[in-house]
Amino acid sequence: MGMSKILTISGQKGGSGKSVTAVNLAVSLALYGKKTLLMDCDPQGSATEWTGINALGYPFNLASVLSGKSTIIEAIVKTEFNCMDILPAGFDLFPVASKLAGTVANEKILRLFLEDIEPDYDYIIIDAPSSYGFLSVAALTAADWLIIAMCTRYNCAEGFHCLLKLIRHIRDTHQTSLKISNLLFNRCKADTEISRFLVDQNLTEIKNMVSKTFIPEDEAVIKSIDKKMPLALYDIKSPASSAYLSFAKEMILVFK
Ligand SMILES: Nc1ncnc2c1ncn2[C@@H]1O[C@H](COP(=O)(O)OP(=O)(O)O)[C@@H](O)[C@H]1O
Ligand SMILES: [Mg+2]
Repeated sequence: MGMSKILTISGQKGGSGKSVTAVNLAVSLALYGKKTLLMDCDPQGSATEWTGINALGYPFNLASVLSGKSTIIEAIVKTEFNCMDILPAGFDLFPVASKLAGTVANEKILRLFLEDIEPDYDYIIIDAPSSYGFLSVAALTAADWLIIAMCTRYNCAEGFHCLLKLIRHIRDTHQTSLKISNLLFNRCKADTEISRFLVDQNLTEIKNMVSKTFIPEDEAVIKSIDKKMPLALYDIKSPASSAYLSFAKEMILVFK
């Protein structure tokens, strides 16, 4: 059995679309028949909420796993999609993470837990929080690959270079092979916007890392969030849903 691909969605400060991407990429991979686990690593629990599992209720979550109250297998919840499971998170992750923070060795904890279930999945998608705190570092340490969610409406060159430093720090500290798989632009109106942005921000050297697909600004994203539904359930024909399906296809080809 092939090893699964652990991908963390990271990026700029809040609002670049990390959680939207984590949910809808995971759903799209599952729709293409890939066995996918979405792991919510953010105490805000956006990915958990937007996958729509809250209504059903679930006994455990990532906080239970990290505090030894459940195994990771017990905490995994099935979704409406055949091939997709989720490891939910909620605010109780915050105090649990605070206790673990401050000890460098603990940054490897998510990676160690994932070792047990990695063979069961083709893809594990991790939604990381925005800060440079313990949970973000743990989420990056757990990953083989990083997808960076970008948004042309912010000045992000500085943020991007800082993220590169963090990646190098994590590789050196934890001897992992964390690599950027690609940069995904979100909330764009046209691809000309992306090339202009890369020139303006002095980032043209990273042009070859930008994915072919970009996610358009789309009302359907906001409406699907309101309804606590992935895009594919809210309106699979919407521009953003189509884009996430194309992006998933692109990722499947990258990892073939
Ligand atoms: N493609 C999009 N089209 C329209 N609105 C979007 C899009 N992507 C994100 N948003 C809006 O941006 C907000 C922040 O997205 P989110 O995924 O929570 O960002 P992050 O996880 O990086 O903080 C969403 O609640 C939504 O309102
Ligand atoms: Mg988020």
